[in-house]
Amino acid sequence: MLEQSDESGSGSGVGTIIVAPPTEARLIADFLEDQHDIDGKPVFEIIAREQEISSSLIENLADSLAEVVVLHSAANGFRAKVVKSIVEQHGERARLVIAFVPKIGDWFDVVEDLGVLTYRLPLRAEPFDEMARELPGLLAEARGKFARRALSTAVEAAEEINKSMAPEAAAVGGSPAAGVRMPTQVITSWSSKGGDGKSLVAQELAWQLANVGGHRVLLVDADMSRGYLAQALNQDARKFAERHNVTTLAQEFLVSGEISRESFEEHLYTVPDVHNQGKGNLRIVFGIASPEAATQPAYAADHGTQGARFIHALVEKAYGVYEFIIFDIGTAITIPVHFAAIKEAGHLLVLATPFRPSVAPTREGIRQLEAHQAVRRDQLRLVLNRWSPEALVKRDELPDFLGVPLFAVIPLVEEGQLMGVINQGFFVSELVWRREKKHRALQPFVTGTASLAENFVPGIVAAFKKHLNQLSNQKTRFWNRR
Ligand SMILES: Nc1ncnc2c1ncn2[C@@H]1O[C@H](COP(=O)(O)OP(=O)(O)OP(=O)(O)O)[C@@H](O)[C@H]1O
Ligand SMILES: [Mg+2]
Repeated sequence: MLEQSDESGSGSGVGTIIVAPPTEARLIADFLEDQHDIDGKPVFEIIAREQEISSSLIENLADSLAEVVVLHSAANGFRAKVVKSIVEQHGERARLVIAFVPKIGDWFDVVEDLGVLTYRLPLRAEPFDEMARELPGLLAEARGKFARRALSTAVEAAEEINKSMAPEAAAVGGSPAAGVRMPTQVITSWSSKGGDGKSLVAQELAWQLANVGGHRVLLVDADMSRGYLAQALNQDARKFAERHNVTTLAQEFLVSGEISRESFEEHLYTVPDVHNQGKGNLRIVFGIASPEAATQPAYAADHGTQGARFIHALVEKAYGVYEFIIFDIGTAITIPVHFAAIKEAGHLLVLATPFRPSVAPTREGIRQLEAHQAVRRDQLRLVLNRWSPEALVKRDELPDFLGVPLFAVIPLVEEGQLMGVINQGFFVSELVWRREKKHRALQPFVTGTASLAENFVPGIVAAFKKHLNQLSNQKTRFWNRR
């Protein structure tokens, strides 16, 4: 066991382990404890201190919930090989490794090459200030790497075995990771321009939180320019949406002044559970059937106040019943329904693409959000979508330019294949979960979405990986029997 520190207990801050000799550890702890966010809450929570990098430390890290490990080169056992195993040893969470190394010699280059955030000794305040300031982005990057490594190795292993497999062996197993009920969180997916991936990302995030995380999720298509989700799913969903959608629900609310339990239930489309174990965790309220619907009194009455009241009533109805309410909206924040969905959000996903024409509108959009007092800046979650190494905008440039820390990165994948999958009515994550070999090119997209979901439900990437591993083990057992 790691030595538990007395400092823990507040429960806030990112779980941090210090590995250093006692005097240095105290100094590091002081510097870490000096760091507070804008609400005055501590940034780091020291959950353990160790004096040496032993094999038992590395083993224990596998079960640790720590997200930050701070290493001092004077700790016993500090060697490049050992540091490397710490970088590669992930727990149930993505992890950022930070090291302080001697000024002289080539320690700096060697350690930095291992993927460690490296600083030269002596210990001083500046690196800690910088770490605290950059932490959201650094953790977002760590989550991305974690997800990539976890899912790609698991998928590769499964695919190798699968090459010689009979199709009937492809039964899906495993159960969701979660269990602990959480209070309701409202997430709204927004971007300042069309086609940035708001709908797709909202849909995939919802699917993963529900099917991989095992949480109850309500996904609401509240885009007043056009409904998307019903069109993106199968015929069954489209049929359902003809009779029950956000407009028919808003009309009931207009007429009766409330959303009754029965009519609420009636309006929810249940996405089948991927585990085939009873009803699924994901419910959807489908969107408007045509742009004209947005001009109906159910939304437009009282200069649009009716639409905003409706969104508020909808959230109230779902509050406490669903652990996540996810809104997919359109770009225009002046439309009261969109504005209300932004107002309700605890987390506003700001989708942006790393291409120059998209950058200025995003900054202008954020300025507008603030001018209209729609959200506080600390509720903005920057999600870089369609990330590509060839993008002219550097990854760090955008968070700096927009003044919003990086929350997740979703790579650009082959659009034709993505569209093919959507046209057939599938969730992209579901295909990777079922390990559909022919959609392998879409895996980076799912990995990026998993690193986004990991922010809300730590352990989602590990659960995804576990499932894929189980799948491959099942196949091995099956193969051995024959
Ligand atoms: N990471 C990605 N890689 C490749 N293609 C992507 C990616 N993300 C989204 N797309 C493509 O962009 C299209 C538009 O995405 P989506 O409809 O989700 O955007 P949107 O922001 O909701 O648009 P709108 O403003 O029209 O509602 C998708 O159909 C998909 O084909
Ligand atoms: Mg959309």
